[in-house]
Amino acid sequence: MITDTHSHIYLDVFQEDIDEVMSRATEAGVDRIFLPNIDKSSTAQVNALAEKYPQRCFPMMGLHPCSVNENVAEELAHVKAELDTGKYCAVGEIGIDLYWDKTFFKAQQEAFRKQIEWAKEMQLPIIIHARESFDEIFEIVDEMNDERLFGIFHCFTGTIEQAKHIMNYGGFYMGIGGVVTFKNSGLDKVVKDIPLDQLVLETDAPYLTPTPYRGKRNESAYTRIVAQKVADLHETSIEHVAEVTTNNANSVFKV
Ligand code: NI
Repeated sequence: MITDTHSHIYLDVFQEDIDEVMSRATEAGVDRIFLPNIDKSSTAQVNALAEKYPQRCFPMMGLHPCSVNENVAEELAHVKAELDTGKYCAVGEIGIDLYWDKTFFKAQQEAFRKQIEWAKEMQLPIIIHARESFDEIFEIVDEMNDERLFGIFHCFTGTIEQAKHIMNYGGFYMGIGGVVTFKNSGLDKVVKDIPLDQLVLETDAPYLTPTPYRGKRNESAYTRIVAQKVADLHETSIEHVAEVTTNNANSVFKV
């Protein structure tokens, strides 16, 4: 059993063929799929898919850093009201993204802190999106980390030093996706040196499609390609990688 810990297969690009996407995931052994929210506009779609596949798709609630703008107060109020319903398994995805736009950097930092506080109060994991922002993320997590804070650094593409920094927190796993299959990403050399008990698998579908499907739409079935790549790097079987990373995912999400 393989777990896709991060997939946006509730988005419109899957609307036409979601049932086929789900069957291909089943055929690939990808039994469980965790759905990170983006903002107010995606919540209904996240919940609709989780309700359609209650044994396989699990909803999260959070405000993505790329959706932090002048409406941040309203967006955060929405996140809090949704979290208070108690139906979500994680606060995500949240974090800081300095790749596209730095205009709302301060607001991104504040939204990140606020959502970390809620996760701690509710004893939920956080799913962190870090793009061009490891130092900025570490600054906040270093300060707020305690025994109540745990979760996943989603789409980890950092260095071995950054991996060690994350491992030192004690409660965090690193999410590995299609980037590990990209030639010249350099991530393969880093993943090789991270113990399997620190890793979970993900797709980030529809983005970051693994080789040999790079450039096409990503989907949860391809978590199997990532699992195989991690198995090759660790010189072990795909079954072993699937088992360890699924156990890790279970311990984060508690479902
Ligand atoms: Ni994502």
